[in-house]
Amino acid sequence: MTVLDFERLSQDTSFNTSTTPPSHFPKRRWFEQWRRPKVDVPLIEINEDGDYREALERAYKQYPDKPYKIQHFPGEIVIVPPHMIDEIKNAPESKLSFQQASYDIFVGQHTGVTNHERAVANILRVGVLRLIDAVYPAIQDEALRAILSELGNDKEWKSVLLFPKSVNFIMAISRLVFVGEPLCRNPEWLKSIVAVTQHAFGSVPDLWQTHDITRPLAAWQLPSLQSVRAHRENAKKLLTPILQKRLEQLEDPNFKPPVDLMQVVIDNGKKNGEGRDVDYQLNAIIGTGRAALFTASMTTFQTLYDLASRPEYIEPLRQEAAELGDAPLNRSNVGKLTKLDSFLRESQRWNMFMLVSVIRKAMKSFSLSDGTFIPEGAILGFDIRNAVRNKSTLENPNEFDGFRFERLRAENGKEQMFQSVQTANDHLVYGHGTQACPGRFFAAHEVKVLVARILLHYDIKLKDPRPGRVAITDQVNGIMVQVDPTQEFLIRRRSETA
Ligand code: HEM
Repeated sequence: MTVLDFERLSQDTSFNTSTTPPSHFPKRRWFEQWRRPKVDVPLIEINEDGDYREALERAYKQYPDKPYKIQHFPGEIVIVPPHMIDEIKNAPESKLSFQQASYDIFVGQHTGVTNHERAVANILRVGVLRLIDAVYPAIQDEALRAILSELGNDKEWKSVLLFPKSVNFIMAISRLVFVGEPLCRNPEWLKSIVAVTQHAFGSVPDLWQTHDITRPLAAWQLPSLQSVRAHRENAKKLLTPILQKRLEQLEDPNFKPPVDLMQVVIDNGKKNGEGRDVDYQLNAIIGTGRAALFTASMTTFQTLYDLASRPEYIEPLRQEAAELGDAPLNRSNVGKLTKLDSFLRESQRWNMFMLVSVIRKAMKSFSLSDGTFIPEGAILGFDIRNAVRNKSTLENPNEFDGFRFERLRAENGKEQMFQSVQTANDHLVYGHGTQACPGRFFAAHEVKVLVARILLHYDIKLKDPRPGRVAITDQVNGIMVQVDPTQEFLIRRRSETA
């Protein structure tokens, strides 16, 4: 083999760090992965600090209503002006694909992010909602158990780092959705599922810094990706006997299978039997975990930060939760927490999650309504800050107003509007349109249950608040918004709920 025989190198499993792209992705020859389409719109330079937030703010002043582009891995991202959002959000996946854009930006080839088959994406879109319904009743118990075990019973103020605890809260709730009992309670399994997600995303900025040619080598050497591969193998080892047992049980016509992701994948993958394959199963479980775990953990954490840094909201929200009395925190009762829902929507609007949303890859060349030609392979998105602040129809959109959406919903005929799960042209945190996040109903529910329970059982405040800091997401890495996990909180168990 010559040194430059990349095709063979990438197939050599001893060296290969690449994952196989999903079969519905267009087939590319090895060198085509480095082809970057160029779009003929103005380029906005990124300053030396690599501050994309600053660049987007500058760009808005220069081009409020015109497309422009920024340089960002894997090439350039075209930022489309807000008034063209309908042209993008309504496009089918065959024309503009979220999955393929996300795969390119998050280096899915090496990290595995959004590297699932289309069939699995469809299962996530449809099947996950079915099984989420089945686990709703268990959520509040799981949430309470996790909160008490993570935060303890101490009636004196104690300092805690809430980010890792938020991950544990979400994991405790979501694990039921994935494989059900008993694997979901196996600490080794949980560790591996968290690690493949955390370390895959953690490796992304490192991979962004490497050259196309040396990236496979970097992916091979990066400790974070070595960890992803090792934990994936471990998860496979643990899942194999469980799947085997389920398949044997299914031979018995009287067996009633539990409602979990494993079963949904078996049922949906019946035609060609893919759902019975352990790698296919693992991709579905890990793929759902990647979409669900850190997104919801970040949201829980930033909501708690926004509460602790604006203590005037704590009592009204606690009061609202207390008014439910002993009623279970099921879907319909959580729906009554309109102040909390409003606070969550405002917190998500404020923190934004990513600087660019509704990210899509052009699967075919086309032109925007202003005539801008978008070649096949170009990546597009919207400046979320511009949408939720500058172009928003809200009153004083540059101020944090936790109950603004509750007041809007109180207006006649608007009771069902402005809910935290509703996407809008000026609310893009879950994306928008045909490919908007299908897990948002579950995410909003679990975050609200957690926050309501924490407020009822604990007092919470910031330790050493940083003057002038308006959000825990004030740092960015590329277009990714970062939470500061080092912020300490003070927590104590409330005596009236002892
Ligand atoms: C607060 C938490 C969450 C946030 C902020 C979030 C955000 C997003 C965003 C921005 C997208 C892209 C949509 C678009 O561009 O139109 C997306 C897609 C998606 N999300 Fe979420 N998400 C969250 C929680 C979840 C949860 C809990 C699940 C699963 C239970 C989930 C499953 C998915 C799936 C399956 C996709 C589409 C992936 C694909 O088509 O391949 N998300 N999410």
